[in-house]
Amino acid sequence: MLALGGLVTSSFSLPLPKNAEKRSSTVKFTRDGLDLQPDEYQTILNEVLGKNGISTDQYIRGGIVEELEDRFARMLGKEGAVFFPTGTLANQIAIREQAGKNRRVVVQKESHIYNDSGDCLQNLSGLAVLPLGAGKTTFDIEELVDTYKRTSQGRVKTRIGVVSLETPVRRKDNRYIEPGILMEIIDLARANGSKLHMDGARLYNMAVHTGISPSDLCKEFDTVYVSMYKNFNAPAGAILAGKDSFVKNLYHTRRMFGGSLAQAWPLAAIANHYAEGFMDDYKEAIRRFDVWKGLINKSDHLTIETIPQGTNVFYLKTTKGTDLKGFKNTLVENSIELNPPDNELPGFVMKINPTLNRIAPTDLARAFLDASRKNQAPARK
Ligand SMILES: Cc1ncc(COP(=O)(O)O)c(C=O)c1O
Repeated sequence: MLALGGLVTSSFSLPLPKNAEKRSSTVKFTRDGLDLQPDEYQTILNEVLGKNGISTDQYIRGGIVEELEDRFARMLGKEGAVFFPTGTLANQIAIREQAGKNRRVVVQKESHIYNDSGDCLQNLSGLAVLPLGAGKTTFDIEELVDTYKRTSQGRVKTRIGVVSLETPVRRKDNRYIEPGILMEIIDLARANGSKLHMDGARLYNMAVHTGISPSDLCKEFDTVYVSMYKNFNAPAGAILAGKDSFVKNLYHTRRMFGGSLAQAWPLAAIANHYAEGFMDDYKEAIRRFDVWKGLINKSDHLTIETIPQGTNVFYLKTTKGTDLKGFKNTLVENSIELNPPDNELPGFVMKINPTLNRIAPTDLARAFLDASRKNQAPARK
């Protein structure tokens, strides 16, 4: 095994990025964002209040909510945007509103809307859902061609009103849809008169990994949803953006579904605070991750594996003799948090996020290598 000292003594140190989060020193490999705690929210709200004040909203209209909506509309290159309490509701409303009389909608079989929304499209909006691409990040173009063909040949005339695409795909460890394939699907959907909705809960992760701006990624989509709590650290919330004509009276539908919170300014103030800085902070986190990965992958007991077409998820694999629980606990003592162990890897499924900017990669490597050494089963005699 490489001696720890030899591995990490070089005095590598990156300057702290401008937007580095210094409130907490804990590095959390568990979330898409900073996983802020109540005291941190208090500090940020105080900071925002002290700087610009916070103008309140009424039933999610006006004030800082409107500021956030305008900001995201601009960042996403759309005419307008509407705040929603959840992405689950934003997705459903985007799809139901655009389907109109064309009641069939295509979704990925691995998508959140198909698996994790209680069949809201079917149960609450009366839509016929066609899930394609079982087990895959997205479906093949041939499958979509075949679905359009079948739909056009039915005895009762039906049409596919909306094609909804989630990217990155949570159930595929946040892999993104390859932009070339995305364009092929878009072209086919357009040629068949379908509207396009993007579930871009983590669109900003994809933008950094592909080098394509969020607005270019969602340019051809009629509507796009982005989560306010994954990358932008609000306690909850979602933005749904699209044409002016689409967003204009959408608040009525939001209210019809019970989605009109009496006030949403605390959520909007936090998301607004992080909106512009996330991409730079995340790029810096990736730079640090790469250095750390290089150091870890020189060791005998730990390997970091990234995912092709992946975004923020990666795997830390350990050799068989490692006590995974002990390893995790040792790291917690050093203010480093991991998800529960995955015994099949064996190791941990982890996420890159801006909490990596709280530590130099060399110190991070030292902590992991120490924890690994400390938690090896004693060699058998
Ligand atoms: C890809 C994707 N879409 C939609 C959602 C739903 O978001 P919310 O929890 O705000 O309803 C999630 C949440 O995990 C998600 O991962």
